[in-house]
Amino acid sequence: MKYTVVLPAAGSGKRMKANKNKLLLELFDKPIFIYTLEVFQRDPNCEAIWLAVKDDEQELIGNFVEKYGIYKVAGFAVGGAERQDSVRACLDMIPACDVVLVHDAARPFIDSDVISRLALEAGESGAAIAGVRVKDTIKKAEAGVITETVERDNLWIIQTPQAFDYSLIKRAATAASEAGFLGTDEAMLVERLGHPVKIIESNYENVKMTTPDDLIYGKAILESRRQEEQQ
Ligand code: CTP
Ligand code: MG
Repeated sequence: MKYTVVLPAAGSGKRMKANKNKLLLELFDKPIFIYTLEVFQRDPNCEAIWLAVKDDEQELIGNFVEKYGIYKVAGFAVGGAERQDSVRACLDMIPACDVVLVHDAARPFIDSDVISRLALEAGESGAAIAGVRVKDTIKKAEAGVITETVERDNLWIIQTPQAFDYSLIKRAATAASEAGFLGTDEAMLVERLGHPVKIIESNYENVKMTTPDDLIYGKAILESRRQEEQQ
């Protein structure tokens, strides 16, 4: 299933404590977001890439896009104060298509098989998001005292990509903005319309580079992939 991907990249990376947009940090020799872009550049089903970037970073990011030859980048939107605003800015710009994927630029290790399954499911049922099963025991607590151990079997850690039928996500984004609703992911905007959202099982390597320890894990993933390629 062919798709257009929207990549929010307009954050400031506060939790990374790098004093700059964390996406510009290098893992070995390349900025984090270039790894992400390269996954979509390589995927034959990806028809166009749209990036949300901060106004004052457009030139810098544009230069990297050019340097690494990411010719599938079709355009840039100006990011907003919240991630949802940044995604919305892209959705307002992209030409109509069948399926739209939204993916955090800060998740560079997404694999193309998960992307394909998401796009296919979104094409069929309208909405599908990536997730992994919870590995740890989860408990609820009040004032530091356990009130409940949550049944783990039904719990998922949600990631991106999140894939949607184009008109459904446009409708959901408009409805959310009219209601002043701020979600933590795109699926929430679709859920509140009552439309079912499927979970596609992803993998634990699709981690978001959020805090400094994620960079250590990120480098380890790259190392192990390089070793596999050499075998
Ligand atoms: N993002 C965005 N616009 C915002 C906030 C975030 O486009 N206003 C993007 C980030 O660049 C990132 C993705 O959304 O690719 C996921 O957000 P997050 O991991 O929270 O990144 P930051 O907001 O940059 O980090 P922090 O929350 O630690 O400041
Ligand atoms: Mg953030």
